[in-house]
Amino acid sequence: MVLSGLGTVSCSVVLRSLINGRNNCNRSGTAVGTATVMPFMAAEMRRHCAGAGGGWNRGFPCWKRMMASEPVRPPAEAKSTEKEKEKKKSEGKSIVSSSYWGISRQKVTREDGTEWPWNCFMPWETYQSNLSIDLTKHHVPKNFLDKFAYRTVKLIRIPTDVFFKRRFGCRAMMLETVAAVPGMVGGMLLHLRSLRKFQHSGGWIKALLEEAENERMHLMTMVELVQPRWYERMLVLAVQGVFFNAFFVLYLLSPKLAHRMVGYLEEEAIHSYTEFLKDIESGAIENVPAPAISIDYWRLPKDAKLKDVILVIRADEAHHRDVNHFASDIHFHGKELRDAPAPVGYH
Ligand SMILES: [Fe+2]
Ligand SMILES: [Fe+2]
Repeated sequence: MVLSGLGTVSCSVVLRSLINGRNNCNRSGTAVGTATVMPFMAAEMRRHCAGAGGGWNRGFPCWKRMMASEPVRPPAEAKSTEKEKEKKKSEGKSIVSSSYWGISRQKVTREDGTEWPWNCFMPWETYQSNLSIDLTKHHVPKNFLDKFAYRTVKLIRIPTDVFFKRRFGCRAMMLETVAAVPGMVGGMLLHLRSLRKFQHSGGWIKALLEEAENERMHLMTMVELVQPRWYERMLVLAVQGVFFNAFFVLYLLSPKLAHRMVGYLEEEAIHSYTEFLKDIESGAIENVPAPAISIDYWRLPKDAKLKDVILVIRADEAHHRDVNHFASDIHFHGKELRDAPAPVGYH
Protein backbone atom coordinates (compact mmCIF):
# COMPACT_ATOMS: atom_id res chain seq x y z
CA MET A 1 0.00 0.00 0.00
CA VAL A 2 2.75 2.34 1.00
CA LEU A 3 4.63 1.47 -2.14
CA SER A 4 1.62 2.09 -4.35
CA GLY A 5 1.16 5.44 -2.62
CA LEU A 6 4.79 6.26 -3.23
CA GLY A 7 4.38 5.17 -6.83
CA THR A 8 1.47 7.53 -7.31
CA VAL A 9 3.36 10.43 -5.81
CA SER A 10 6.53 9.71 -7.78
CA CYS A 11 4.46 9.32 -10.97
CA SER A 12 2.83 12.68 -10.44
CA VAL A 13 6.20 14.26 -9.76
CA VAL A 14 7.71 12.65 -12.85
CA LEU A 15 4.70 13.62 -14.96
CA ARG A 16 4.90 17.19 -13.72
CA SER A 17 8.61 17.33 -14.49
CA LEU A 18 7.93 15.95 -17.95
CA ILE A 19 5.27 18.55 -18.56
CA ASN A 20 7.50 21.32 -17.27
CA GLY A 21 10.27 20.50 -19.65
CA ARG A 22 13.21 18.31 -20.41
CA ASN A 23 15.89 19.49 -18.05
CA ASN A 24 15.90 19.73 -14.29
CA CYS A 25 19.54 20.61 -14.21
CA ASN A 26 19.31 24.18 -15.42
CA ARG A 27 21.83 26.88 -15.18
CA SER A 28 21.54 29.37 -12.40
CA GLY A 29 19.25 32.23 -13.22
CA THR A 30 16.85 29.96 -15.08
CA ALA A 31 14.98 29.29 -11.89
CA VAL A 32 15.44 25.68 -10.97
CA GLY A 33 17.55 25.24 -7.82
CA THR A 34 15.44 25.41 -4.68
CA ALA A 35 17.18 28.47 -3.36
CA THR A 36 16.43 30.26 -6.60
CA VAL A 37 13.01 28.94 -7.44
CA MET A 38 11.31 29.70 -4.19
CA PRO A 39 12.24 33.37 -4.05
CA PHE A 40 11.47 33.60 -7.76
CA MET A 41 8.01 32.15 -7.15
CA ALA A 42 7.59 34.40 -4.15
CA ALA A 43 8.38 37.43 -6.27
CA GLU A 44 5.94 36.28 -8.95
CA MET A 45 3.21 35.72 -6.37
CA ARG A 46 3.92 39.04 -4.78
CA ARG A 47 3.64 40.85 -8.07
CA HIS A 48 0.42 39.04 -8.91
CA CYS A 49 -1.11 39.68 -5.52
CA ALA A 50 -0.19 43.30 -5.58
CA GLY A 51 -1.79 43.53 -9.02
CA ALA A 52 -4.94 41.84 -7.78
CA GLY A 53 -5.34 44.32 -5.00
CA GLY A 54 -4.71 41.67 -2.36
CA GLY A 55 -1.37 42.74 -0.99
CA TRP A 56 1.38 40.24 -0.19
CA ASN A 57 1.02 40.51 3.56
CA ARG A 58 -2.53 39.22 3.39
CA GLY A 59 -1.07 36.02 1.94
CA PHE A 60 -3.86 33.52 2.18
CA PRO A 61 -6.66 35.55 0.56
CA CYS A 62 -4.38 36.17 -2.35
CA TRP A 63 -3.60 32.45 -2.73
CA LYS A 64 -7.30 31.71 -2.47
CA ARG A 65 -8.13 34.15 -5.22
CA MET A 66 -5.49 32.71 -7.49
CA MET A 67 -6.51 29.13 -6.90
CA ALA A 68 -10.22 29.86 -7.36
CA SER A 69 -9.54 31.57 -10.67
CA GLU A 70 -11.81 34.47 -9.75
CA PRO A 71 -11.74 37.44 -12.09
CA VAL A 72 -8.97 39.81 -11.23
CA ARG A 73 -10.24 43.23 -10.29
CA PRO A 74 -8.53 46.30 -11.70
CA PRO A 75 -5.55 47.02 -9.50
CA ALA A 76 -5.95 49.79 -7.00
CA GLU A 77 -2.25 50.50 -7.42
CA ALA A 78 -2.81 51.34 -11.07
CA LYS A 79 -3.08 54.94 -10.04
CA SER A 80 0.17 54.85 -8.10
CA THR A 81 3.06 56.88 -9.30
CA GLU A 82 5.95 55.60 -11.35
CA LYS A 83 8.18 56.00 -8.31
CA GLU A 84 6.09 53.54 -6.31
CA LYS A 85 6.25 51.02 -9.14
CA GLU A 86 10.02 51.28 -9.27
CA LYS A 87 10.18 50.78 -5.50
CA LYS A 88 8.12 47.58 -5.75
CA LYS A 89 10.29 46.30 -8.57
CA SER A 90 13.44 46.72 -6.50
CA GLU A 91 11.76 45.02 -3.52
CA GLY A 92 10.96 42.04 -5.74
CA LYS A 93 14.58 41.81 -6.87
CA SER A 94 15.85 41.83 -3.29
CA ILE A 95 13.59 38.86 -2.48
CA VAL A 96 15.10 36.90 -5.34
CA SER A 97 18.65 37.50 -4.16
CA SER A 98 18.12 36.93 -0.44
CA SER A 99 15.71 34.56 1.18
CA TYR A 100 13.60 35.04 4.28
CA TRP A 101 14.78 31.55 5.27
CA GLY A 102 18.41 32.53 5.12
CA ILE A 103 19.01 30.29 2.14
CA SER A 104 21.24 31.90 -0.39
CA ARG A 105 24.12 30.67 -2.48
CA GLN A 106 27.52 32.16 -2.17
CA LYS A 107 28.97 33.31 -5.45
CA VAL A 108 30.74 30.31 -6.91
CA THR A 109 33.36 30.64 -9.59
CA ARG A 110 35.37 28.38 -11.84
CA GLU A 111 39.14 28.15 -11.47
CA ASP A 112 39.49 30.82 -14.17
CA GLY A 113 37.30 33.20 -12.14
CA THR A 114 34.22 33.02 -14.36
CA GLU A 115 30.87 32.58 -12.66
CA TRP A 116 29.71 28.99 -12.04
CA PRO A 117 26.56 28.60 -14.15
CA TRP A 118 25.07 25.39 -12.70
CA ASN A 119 22.77 24.82 -9.76
CA CYS A 120 22.67 21.05 -10.06
CA PHE A 121 26.33 20.40 -9.28
CA MET A 122 29.20 22.37 -7.86
CA PRO A 123 32.86 22.64 -8.94
CA TRP A 124 33.99 20.39 -6.06
CA GLU A 125 31.74 17.61 -7.40
CA THR A 126 33.42 17.59 -10.80
CA TYR A 127 36.29 15.33 -11.78
CA GLN A 128 38.62 14.25 -14.53
CA SER A 129 37.76 10.79 -15.68
CA ASN A 130 40.32 8.02 -15.47
CA LEU A 131 40.39 6.96 -19.10
CA SER A 132 43.09 4.36 -18.50
CA ILE A 133 40.67 2.02 -16.73
CA ASP A 134 40.63 -1.51 -18.18
CA LEU A 135 37.52 -1.72 -20.38
CA THR A 136 37.90 -5.41 -21.14
CA LYS A 137 37.49 -6.75 -17.60
CA HIS A 138 34.72 -9.30 -17.35
CA HIS A 139 33.38 -11.30 -14.45
CA VAL A 140 33.20 -14.89 -15.62
CA PRO A 141 29.93 -16.38 -14.32
CA LYS A 142 30.84 -19.08 -11.84
CA ASN A 143 27.76 -20.14 -9.93
CA PHE A 144 24.05 -20.37 -10.64
CA LEU A 145 23.29 -16.79 -9.58
CA ASP A 146 26.09 -15.40 -11.75
CA LYS A 147 24.88 -17.37 -14.77
CA PHE A 148 21.29 -16.32 -14.14
CA ALA A 149 22.36 -12.65 -13.92
CA TYR A 150 24.53 -12.88 -17.03
CA ARG A 151 21.90 -14.58 -19.18
CA THR A 152 19.13 -12.27 -17.98
CA VAL A 153 21.17 -9.22 -18.97
CA LYS A 154 22.00 -10.77 -22.35
CA LEU A 155 18.29 -11.47 -22.82
CA ILE A 156 17.34 -7.89 -21.94
CA ARG A 157 19.83 -6.66 -24.52
CA ILE A 158 17.97 -8.32 -27.41
CA PRO A 159 14.85 -6.08 -27.41
CA THR A 160 16.97 -2.95 -26.91
CA ASP A 161 19.13 -3.92 -29.92
CA VAL A 162 16.00 -4.51 -31.99
CA PHE A 163 14.31 -1.28 -30.87
CA PHE A 164 17.23 1.15 -31.12
CA LYS A 165 19.48 -0.55 -33.72
CA ARG A 166 22.40 1.87 -34.18
CA ARG A 167 20.61 4.99 -32.95
CA PHE A 168 23.14 5.26 -30.15
CA GLY A 169 22.25 8.77 -28.99
CA CYS A 170 18.64 7.82 -28.44
CA ARG A 171 19.65 4.47 -26.98
CA ALA A 172 22.03 6.05 -24.48
CA MET A 173 19.49 8.66 -23.42
CA MET A 174 16.78 6.06 -22.82
CA LEU A 175 19.03 3.53 -21.06
CA GLU A 176 20.53 6.15 -18.76
CA THR A 177 17.03 6.73 -17.37
CA VAL A 178 17.21 3.11 -16.20
CA ALA A 179 20.88 3.03 -15.26
CA ALA A 180 20.40 5.73 -12.61
CA VAL A 181 17.86 3.62 -10.70
CA PRO A 182 19.90 0.76 -9.08
CA GLY A 183 22.31 3.04 -7.21
CA MET A 184 19.42 5.02 -5.78
CA VAL A 185 17.49 1.89 -4.75
CA GLY A 186 20.57 0.23 -3.23
CA GLY A 187 21.60 3.43 -1.44
CA MET A 188 18.07 3.96 -0.14
CA LEU A 189 17.77 0.40 1.17
CA LEU A 190 21.18 0.54 2.84
CA HIS A 191 20.17 3.86 4.39
CA LEU A 192 16.99 2.32 5.82
CA ARG A 193 18.95 -0.72 7.00
CA SER A 194 21.43 1.54 8.77
CA LEU A 195 18.52 3.24 10.56
CA ARG A 196 16.84 -0.03 11.48
CA LYS A 197 19.95 -1.75 12.76
CA PHE A 198 21.71 1.25 14.32
CA GLN A 199 24.73 0.42 12.18
CA HIS A 200 27.21 2.31 10.06
CA SER A 201 26.99 1.59 6.35
CA GLY A 202 30.75 1.63 5.80
CA GLY A 203 30.29 4.42 3.28
CA TRP A 204 28.31 2.27 0.86
CA ILE A 205 25.21 4.48 1.00
CA LYS A 206 27.29 7.35 -0.30
CA ALA A 207 29.08 5.22 -2.88
CA LEU A 208 25.82 3.93 -4.37
CA LEU A 209 24.14 7.33 -4.34
CA GLU A 210 27.22 8.75 -6.08
CA GLU A 211 26.74 6.15 -8.79
CA ALA A 212 23.09 7.14 -9.20
CA GLU A 213 24.03 10.80 -9.44
CA ASN A 214 26.78 10.05 -11.94
CA GLU A 215 24.32 8.10 -14.12
CA ARG A 216 21.83 10.96 -13.88
CA MET A 217 24.52 13.34 -15.12
CA HIS A 218 25.02 11.01 -18.11
CA LEU A 219 21.32 11.50 -18.78
CA MET A 220 21.47 15.27 -18.33
CA THR A 221 24.29 15.28 -20.89
CA MET A 222 22.59 13.01 -23.41
CA VAL A 223 19.35 14.94 -23.24
CA GLU A 224 21.26 18.02 -24.45
CA LEU A 225 22.08 16.07 -27.60
CA VAL A 226 18.90 14.10 -28.20
CA GLN A 227 15.40 15.43 -27.72
CA PRO A 228 13.08 12.73 -26.34
CA ARG A 229 9.83 12.37 -28.28
CA TRP A 230 6.51 12.13 -26.50
CA TYR A 231 6.25 8.36 -26.89
CA GLU A 232 9.80 7.96 -25.57
CA ARG A 233 8.81 9.95 -22.49
CA MET A 234 5.82 7.62 -22.05
CA LEU A 235 8.10 4.61 -22.44
CA VAL A 236 10.42 5.98 -19.75
CA LEU A 237 7.46 6.35 -17.39
CA ALA A 238 6.38 2.75 -17.95
CA VAL A 239 9.89 1.30 -17.76
CA GLN A 240 10.73 3.26 -14.60
CA GLY A 241 7.52 2.12 -12.93
CA VAL A 242 8.33 -1.52 -13.62
CA PHE A 243 12.12 -1.42 -13.19
CA PHE A 244 12.19 0.55 -9.94
CA ASN A 245 9.80 -1.85 -8.22
CA ALA A 246 11.40 -4.96 -9.70
CA PHE A 247 14.90 -3.88 -8.64
CA PHE A 248 13.63 -2.83 -5.22
CA VAL A 249 12.24 -6.31 -4.59
CA LEU A 250 15.32 -7.98 -6.07
CA TYR A 251 17.66 -5.97 -3.81
CA LEU A 252 15.61 -6.92 -0.77
CA LEU A 253 15.71 -10.61 -1.71
CA SER A 254 19.30 -10.84 -2.92
CA PRO A 255 21.67 -7.86 -3.03
CA LYS A 256 24.30 -10.31 -4.29
CA LEU A 257 22.26 -11.00 -7.43
CA ALA A 258 21.16 -7.38 -7.78
CA HIS A 259 24.74 -6.07 -7.80
CA ARG A 260 25.88 -8.85 -10.13
CA MET A 261 23.16 -7.94 -12.61
CA VAL A 262 24.15 -4.29 -12.49
CA GLY A 263 27.77 -5.31 -13.01
CA TYR A 264 26.78 -7.14 -16.21
CA LEU A 265 24.53 -4.27 -17.31
CA GLU A 266 27.55 -1.98 -16.99
CA GLU A 267 29.60 -4.39 -19.12
CA GLU A 268 26.91 -4.07 -21.78
CA ALA A 269 26.94 -0.29 -21.42
CA ILE A 270 30.70 -0.29 -22.11
CA HIS A 271 30.05 -2.33 -25.24
CA SER A 272 27.27 0.04 -26.40
CA TYR A 273 29.39 3.16 -25.89
CA THR A 274 32.27 1.48 -27.76
CA GLU A 275 29.92 0.97 -30.72
CA PHE A 276 28.79 4.59 -30.33
CA LEU A 277 32.45 5.68 -30.61
CA LYS A 278 32.93 3.54 -33.73
CA ASP A 279 30.06 5.37 -35.43
CA ILE A 280 31.50 8.74 -34.44
CA GLU A 281 34.90 7.75 -35.83
CA SER A 282 33.38 6.47 -39.08
CA GLY A 283 31.39 9.68 -39.51
CA ALA A 284 28.02 7.93 -39.25
CA ILE A 285 27.35 10.12 -36.19
CA GLU A 286 28.47 13.73 -36.35
CA ASN A 287 31.14 14.63 -33.80
CA VAL A 288 29.31 17.73 -32.57
CA PRO A 289 30.65 20.06 -29.88
CA ALA A 290 30.26 18.71 -26.34
CA PRO A 291 27.34 20.10 -24.30
CA ALA A 292 28.40 22.84 -21.89
CA ILE A 293 27.25 20.80 -18.89
CA SER A 294 29.60 17.94 -19.79
CA ILE A 295 32.58 20.28 -20.20
CA ASP A 296 32.13 21.53 -16.64
CA TYR A 297 31.19 18.18 -15.07
CA TRP A 298 34.14 16.19 -16.49
CA ARG A 299 36.50 19.19 -16.66
CA LEU A 300 36.87 18.74 -20.39
CA PRO A 301 38.67 21.23 -22.64
CA LYS A 302 36.43 24.06 -23.87
CA ASP A 303 36.63 22.74 -27.45
CA ALA A 304 35.71 19.17 -26.43
CA LYS A 305 33.58 17.16 -28.84
CA LEU A 306 30.97 14.45 -28.51
CA LYS A 307 33.69 11.79 -28.80
CA ASP A 308 35.41 13.15 -25.69
CA VAL A 309 32.12 12.99 -23.80
CA ILE A 310 31.42 9.40 -24.82
CA LEU A 311 34.95 8.41 -23.79
CA VAL A 312 34.47 9.72 -20.25
CA ILE A 313 30.97 8.27 -19.94
CA ARG A 314 32.31 4.87 -21.02
CA ALA A 315 35.06 5.14 -18.39
CA ASP A 316 32.36 5.91 -15.78
CA GLU A 317 30.49 2.77 -16.80
CA ALA A 318 33.67 0.74 -16.31
CA HIS A 319 33.95 2.13 -12.78
CA HIS A 320 30.33 1.22 -12.06
CA ARG A 321 31.04 -2.29 -13.37
CA ASP A 322 33.90 -2.66 -10.89
CA VAL A 323 31.90 -1.28 -7.95
CA ASN A 324 28.94 -3.57 -8.53
CA HIS A 325 30.91 -6.77 -9.19
CA PHE A 326 32.97 -5.93 -6.08
CA ALA A 327 29.77 -5.47 -4.04
CA SER A 328 28.43 -8.78 -5.28
CA ASP A 329 31.73 -10.51 -4.46
CA ILE A 330 31.54 -9.19 -0.88
CA HIS A 331 28.11 -10.79 -0.49
CA PHE A 332 29.38 -13.94 -2.18
CA HIS A 333 31.99 -14.28 0.56
CA GLY A 334 29.26 -14.15 3.18
CA LYS A 335 30.08 -10.62 4.31
CA GLU A 336 28.07 -7.43 4.38
CA LEU A 337 29.00 -4.42 2.28
CA ARG A 338 29.96 -2.43 5.37
CA ASP A 339 32.66 -5.02 6.10
CA ALA A 340 34.66 -3.77 3.10
CA PRO A 341 35.82 -0.23 2.37
CA ALA A 342 33.29 1.56 0.18
CA PRO A 343 34.63 2.96 -3.10
CA VAL A 344 33.52 6.52 -2.35
CA GLY A 345 34.66 8.93 -5.03
CA TYR A 346 35.68 6.07 -7.34
CA HIS A 347 35.28 7.51 -10.84
FE1 LIG B 1 25.58 5.71 -17.62
FE1 LIG C 1 26.78 2.88 -15.35
